[in-house]
Amino acid sequence: MSVTSDSLGVLIMAAGKGTRMHSDKPKVLQSLLEEPVVYYILDSVRRAGLSNVAVLVGHRGEMVEAYVRQEWPDAEVVWQHEQLGTGHAVKVAEAWWKQFDHVLVLNGDVPLVEPQTLADLVKKHERYRPQCSLLSFNADDPAGYGRIVRLADGGVRIVEHKEAEEEELSIHEINAGIYLFETKALSSVVDQLSPNNEQNEYYITDAVHLIDETEGDVNVVVCEDEAELQGVNTPYDLAATARALNKRIIRAHMLNGLKCMDPGSTWIGPRAEFAPDVVVEPGVQIWGRSQIGNGSRIGAYTTLRNVAIGENTTVFGPSVLVDAEIGNGAEIGPFAFLRSGVLMKDGSRAGRFVEIKNSAIGVGAKVPHLSYIGDATIGDGTNIGAGTVTCNYDGSEKHRTTIGANCFVGSDTMFVAPVSMGDNASTAAGSVITKDVPDGALGIARARQTNIDDWQNRKGITAKKTQKDKES
Ligand code: UD1
Ligand code: CA
Repeated sequence: MSVTSDSLGVLIMAAGKGTRMHSDKPKVLQSLLEEPVVYYILDSVRRAGLSNVAVLVGHRGEMVEAYVRQEWPDAEVVWQHEQLGTGHAVKVAEAWWKQFDHVLVLNGDVPLVEPQTLADLVKKHERYRPQCSLLSFNADDPAGYGRIVRLADGGVRIVEHKEAEEEELSIHEINAGIYLFETKALSSVVDQLSPNNEQNEYYITDAVHLIDETEGDVNVVVCEDEAELQGVNTPYDLAATARALNKRIIRAHMLNGLKCMDPGSTWIGPRAEFAPDVVVEPGVQIWGRSQIGNGSRIGAYTTLRNVAIGENTTVFGPSVLVDAEIGNGAEIGPFAFLRSGVLMKDGSRAGRFVEIKNSAIGVGAKVPHLSYIGDATIGDGTNIGAGTVTCNYDGSEKHRTTIGANCFVGSDTMFVAPVSMGDNASTAAGSVITKDVPDGALGIARARQTNIDDWQNRKGITAKKTQKDKES
């Protein structure tokens, strides 16, 4: 019978403070490619096909709990109100994991672990049926980690860096912080853990040794890839881990067709999706739940965050797009800023020095130059002249501007919202539109021009003599 069908729980320890981060934000919520550290472990667990997940929260636990409830609604949240160490962490969660026959316990700060490695640990646990399986790896620089001490009788003990003897410090085989216990065995030793060590903490690693001593079997599964099991403890680790994840993500997309011109300067988060034939120029950042359709191209130094882009659309860089949906065959940028709920329909354009916020731009409609469009709806085929502004904010509230289809908005039109314009209507350049413009009408709202004849001469003082005047 398989371990998974026996019933397996997965406990992710995410209650620690992460002192070495020097941050108010708990370590597991620190950002890695704009997702929290704990995202990656939850994602690997899910992709390994494991369910019955609980996340142990404690330090700034409300923040971690809110994240888990929002993004991983199937996971449970278990509280560790005082953080007395990883041994204490498993102990306080006993009531939860006791319902399973086996429990996979993971440090929340090993985001690089691959689903395959977790699946392999489960498979080996199934095959050998020890009371505890755990992952180890050989580190070039083992400083700070727990060392795997292989005992003469075939048993195993883990000694933390701080308590290691001279000889033990030279061991390079490291405890990865990922353990699979038979819950009956874990239950029988968890109350014997004590904080008699340098850090006055309860260590989960002592449970491994206790199981080994009380005639349980401990099987150490060695992971070949050292990079996969690095813990994230410092801001430097965070940057190094982000780079490693980024490389892995970009490589996977490129094997599926992504034309990333310069993987070294491009940043792509784990939730981005690409159709096969997409070009990404150098210096691009793509974060959150972004999706890019076939034939589209993202220009240099563009940032996309939660942006869906259709097919054959070009974003000229640099541009910044946040929470936007762009249709097929659209053109954006360069120097465009689209934010907070923008819909650009098929064939539409947002050009140079254009900011668009919370607005829908119709099929084939164009906002080519130097405009601010906020809280507006623009109909199909409408052209917005350079320098147009929707004056959406009256100092206390936001108001909408509605512009119909096939309109021609003259350059430098100010729409003082709330205001609307029908279909096939126009505004004269330089108008300040405060009243609705009906279908087919031309709205003109500006002072009529007066030319004062012979102005220069009459003013006298400012009229500069030309060379010819001087000579005569
Ligand atoms: C731990 C291991 C060490 C191993 C290393 C691998 C112990 C005693 N040591 O050390 O052998 O080589 O991981 O990366 O376990 N946590 C809680 N509650 C607590 C304390 C910690 O939930 O009371 C969580 C943390 O949020 C973190 C994880 O447990 O995600 C590991 O804690 P951390 O303090 O980082 O352990 P290390 O010192 O790295
Ligand atoms: Ca750690």
